[in-house]
Order: sequence, then C-alpha cells, then structure tokens
Amino acid sequence: MAAPRVLLTRRWPQPVERAMQERFDTVLNEGDRPLSQAELASAMGEFDVLCPTVSDRIDAAVIAGGTRTKIIANYGVGFDHIDVHAAKATAIAVTNTPGVLTDATADLAMTLLLMAARRAGEGERELRAGQWSGWRPTHLLGSSLKGKTLGLVAFGRIGIATARRAHHGFGMKIAYYARREADEAVARELDATFHPDLHGLLAASDFVSLHVPGSSETANLIDAAALSAMKPGSYLINTARGGVVDHAALAEALRSGHLAGAGLDVYPAEPQVPPELLGLESVVLLPHLGSATAETRTAMGEKAMSNVVAWAEGRDLPDRVA
Ligand code: DGY
Repeated sequence: MAAPRVLLTRRWPQPVERAMQERFDTVLNEGDRPLSQAELASAMGEFDVLCPTVSDRIDAAVIAGGTRTKIIANYGVGFDHIDVHAAKATAIAVTNTPGVLTDATADLAMTLLLMAARRAGEGERELRAGQWSGWRPTHLLGSSLKGKTLGLVAFGRIGIATARRAHHGFGMKIAYYARREADEAVARELDATFHPDLHGLLAASDFVSLHVPGSSETANLIDAAALSAMKPGSYLINTARGGVVDHAALAEALRSGHLAGAGLDVYPAEPQVPPELLGLESVVLLPHLGSATAETRTAMGEKAMSNVVAWAEGRDLPDRVA
C-alpha cells in the first residue's frame, strides 16, 4: 500500500522533517512561506494528512476544500486557528502537541516578566542608540520580584510551570484564577492563593501572566475594565494568545501610567503588531518565541509525528482534540 501523503505547511527542524520523510510520502514547504487560504484548501484534496502550525488559518472553507485529508496533526499546542467543529462534522481528526513546550513557554514568560520589570528592552535600545551616558543611582529603575505577587490567569501546565520558576527561583508569591482549585499538592508546594473571580486576582497581583487558551470565551478577557482592575504600577505578561487582550485598552493603560509595563509574545493578527504599542517604551514585544528552542521545536515535531503514526497504524490518537 502506498505511504500516506503528508503536507508540512512550514519548515520543521531537520531531524523531524527527515523522520517524517522516511516514514511517509512527505511534502515540505521548501520556501517556508505562509500558504494562502486557497493553497490550504486545495491541500485538503491532495494530502491524507495536513500538519499545519499556528500561522495557518484552517477555517471551515479550507476544510471544505477537499475530502482526502483524514487527520490534521497540528504542530503546536494551541489549536484556536483550526475550526474543530467543521473538522469534526466531516470526520477529520485533529491532534496537537501538549506537554513538550511547557518549560520553554514558562521560561519565556519569565523572560518577559524580567525584561519588563528590569526595563531591559529600554536599556538595550538606549545603549545601541549611543544614548547611554553612564552609571547613575537613578538610571532606569525597575521593580524587584522578591515578595511580589504573581497572578496566573489559568493554572494549567504552563501556568504552574511559570509559577514554579517565579516562586522557587525569584521568591514571588503565587495567586491564580482558574475554573477550579488546583491540586492540593501543587497549591501547597507553591503556597498558592486561589481567586475564583478574575478581577479579584487582578486587584491582588503585582504581575499578571496570562495562560488561557485562545477561544471565543477568552477573546478580550483582559479588556479596559480588567486592566483598570489591575493594581496601579503592575505589569501584564502574555504568552497565551493575542486575542485575549484588548490592545488599544492596554496601550492606554501603559500611556496613562496605570500599568508600569507589559511583556507580550503574541498578537491578535500575527505577524502584525498593534501599531499603538510600537512607540511605547514600557512594553516588551517579542515575535511569538514561546516554544522557540531547538529542543522544544524538535519535540513538537516528534509529538505531531507520533499522532500521524498512530493514525496510520489505526491506533487511538495520543493527543486527539477533535
Ligand atoms: C503553540 O504551540 O500553540 C504555540 O503558540 C506555538 O508554539
């Protein structure tokens, strides 16, 4: 029997591209350019397996583009860019890559938190522009972390991993907002305070880090009202999805000085960055680097591949989301 035809919509780290090519009839996107909606739709008629990433919008029109694809094995944990209802309705399985990017993403949340708190972006820009006039006691003063409260919005794998770094590494107090209380052992380990109400958490936190998945339920969760519930002089960190934050309201909260700073890795319409943020010194802006380590991106490819292999062998899919 012929090997299933697989499309990787973007370049993957070499070892996992090679592994996919050895096992399947795999087509690579040699130029690594984002595919158009029309190209993605026609791929549904040409490939048994589609392996998209967060940069592909797999909407109902794409899914209706052909009937050959049987599984969409997403390279990434978040799958808000895939219309899972449309996939389900046409009996296409959808999988993701949970677990393997937890540490890398938590590391990046801490990177943003530290950069925002210690004004690292501002300092680097100043130095590179030749504007640094030398050490002085009042130069670019930021905020300490020890004893400050980090509020996690959602307390799943990545939220907990971020809390561990902040608590054990930097002496921060931990608070969280979630649908239900965390496992007792985790709550005890982190001495974590549960807030059943989002605004209650925001009002109690010096730093807020977002870890909710992107969805219609979390769209603009951090809106003007939520931002004004945050403590004056606090910081917002987002490594989750851009759509969770109202960026016009965030820019206003930073401009007015209500928030001392923010650190963002994700945006609502990537690769566009809300223009109102670009001129603000107090926001750190990274280009969606949460999982960007060689080890993690390879592990994500392996995880996506393990789902494709399970499908090809007729086994249960380890990371099925639809
Ligand atoms: C994901 O996996 O959802 C990230 O946003 C990309 O690594």
